[in-house]
Amino acid sequence: MNQHVVTFLPAGISVPVEAGSSLLQAQIAAGLQPDAPCGGKGTCGKCRVVLDGQEILACQTQVHRDMTVFTEQPEQMKILTAGLSVDILPDGTDAYVMAFDIGTTTVVCYLMDGRSGGLLAQSSCMNPQSQFGADVISRIQQVLKDGGDVMSTTIRDALSRLARETAAKAGIPPEAITASAIVGNTAMHHLLLGIDPKPLVTPPYMPAVFEALERNGARILPNIAGFVGGDTVGCMVSTRFDRLEELTLLIDIGTNGEMVLGNRNRRIACSTAAGPAFEGAKISCGMRGAEGAVDHVWLEKGELQYHVIGDKAPQGLCGSGLLDLVAVLLDLEVLDESGYLEEKAFSLCENVTLTQKDIREVQLAKAAIRAGIELLARQMGVKVEDIQQVYLAGAFGNYMDPKSACRIGMIPPVLIDRIQPIGNAAGEGAKLCALRREEFDYAKALAKHTEFLELASLPDFQDCYVDALEFSEEEDA
Ligand code: FES
Repeated sequence: MNQHVVTFLPAGISVPVEAGSSLLQAQIAAGLQPDAPCGGKGTCGKCRVVLDGQEILACQTQVHRDMTVFTEQPEQMKILTAGLSVDILPDGTDAYVMAFDIGTTTVVCYLMDGRSGGLLAQSSCMNPQSQFGADVISRIQQVLKDGGDVMSTTIRDALSRLARETAAKAGIPPEAITASAIVGNTAMHHLLLGIDPKPLVTPPYMPAVFEALERNGARILPNIAGFVGGDTVGCMVSTRFDRLEELTLLIDIGTNGEMVLGNRNRRIACSTAAGPAFEGAKISCGMRGAEGAVDHVWLEKGELQYHVIGDKAPQGLCGSGLLDLVAVLLDLEVLDESGYLEEKAFSLCENVTLTQKDIREVQLAKAAIRAGIELLARQMGVKVEDIQQVYLAGAFGNYMDPKSACRIGMIPPVLIDRIQPIGNAAGEGAKLCALRREEFDYAKALAKHTEFLELASLPDFQDCYVDALEFSEEEDA
């Protein structure tokens, strides 16, 4: 087979690739972990590189000769590692234990003293599977097309790398770590373990494996449904969800939106197809919460103000900034409740322009979340205003302004004073399960005793979703 050499600068890495491969494939082969939210379909525009002085899309460019390509160094993303948790007494049978939280976008690794439970070191990285697409569906499609080996090897290598890095930070050999626990959404779980993910994208969208597993000393938390996985169970472990008196709504908005409503009496979980808009994908100027991202926008004396992460010129909008900007545009009446943008596009500053299509993506995402909240409440037989507290898990929930989430109607405004960010509660759940076997058993019991609600099967789903598309502050979405 004819091969060509592609050299990437400024990294200075050269790789031989088969003629006809895309430049994106060459970047992946070079280990550069390119940003490719659409998975190489040519629609997100995020894989731009410079070839012969011209900006081109790496996924749409075939290698047909030796090439030298300039790529941007990916920005370091802020990764959320801490979260709400409880104090427990570890088993004490292992000197060192490790916990992993495999998110669709980021992966976090924690190393703990198995006797005291103290955190010794932690590390995090982007999930290297992002090079195959920002959302789980793109990655599953990739596995169905080409087999799952690359996908599972990619994440396993990342876990090994993180484990070595974290052990080195604590000054211990990796072999000294004798127990671990892993949380992840159902797709991350299947792709890690090399389990066929086809059932996740085929009705009734259920996991091939629900049960908690133990593999080589690793406790892997169970799944509740195709899109409600061990990460949600981890959040329930760390918040002691089945012991809560208050009727509580737990929301984790990532590339999908998982929710649980309940307390000590009953718990119902659902997933919403919120899509990755709030992770920067599908938004023309969207980016992750890294340096250069506008992360907050507000009005001061009628003037638009914004904040950029790091000491940098703005390069795009991350999820929290996107939410704020839409809320501000509603206040300025540049955007109406139906989602119509008065201007063709709204420019906040150089590199940050919101288009009508971007607004539509936000509407779809926020409507999915709002409809989920309304339908969970109905299923529980309560009104939305009966919810006594709202736990927001995950990075977006931690950094977003709840006022903006309520202003655009993503979260019912009546709940504004009941919202509490709980950080990386999934990671905290993994830590507890690594430290004590009883916690792992508790996770199994929580998964077993949580009902799952398939929103799309409900007769009122469509109406509820369509109502929730409006940017309305009204209580009844
Ligand atoms: S446009 Fe190339 S990866 Fe999305």
